[in-house]
Amino acid sequence: MKKLIIINGPNLNLLGKREPAIYGSHTFTEFLDEIKTKYHNVTIDYFQSNIEGELIDKLQEVGFSYDGIVLNAAAYTHTSIGMGDAVKAIETPVVEVHISNTFNREEFRHQSYISPNSRGVILGFGLQSYELAIQSFLI
Ligand code: DQA
Repeated sequence: MKKLIIINGPNLNLLGKREPAIYGSHTFTEFLDEIKTKYHNVTIDYFQSNIEGELIDKLQEVGFSYDGIVLNAAAYTHTSIGMGDAVKAIETPVVEVHISNTFNREEFRHQSYISPNSRGVILGFGLQSYELAIQSFLI
């Protein structure tokens, strides 16, 4: 059984309440339940933190044993050399995801420290971005 983990960065615990015009009105818990049911033959773990160091700790913890990491580093995508270095340091492939299309938003969202070290990037498809990333580990 493949072992995947979704790692969500800062403010993504507020999905459903946070700027629904951009991020939708589903909570992540609802979405995760659906996805776990749909992909019941895959282990899909989940971790969310608003704290940069905790996200780095989690990448290091899972990054030598899991089959894939789906990472939405949220705002740290655009600022965190430390998270970029962690993605580079680990062996497990990372697919970077974003709910919104960061390229049709503010200029500061166009920069990513995660992308250069990721297997691929999926953005702009709402919560479906996560599902597409999961599928990418199953083909
Ligand atoms: C985001 C995009 C980021 O720019 C933003 O800081 C987020 C969410 C997205 O999923 O669209 O918090 O990663």
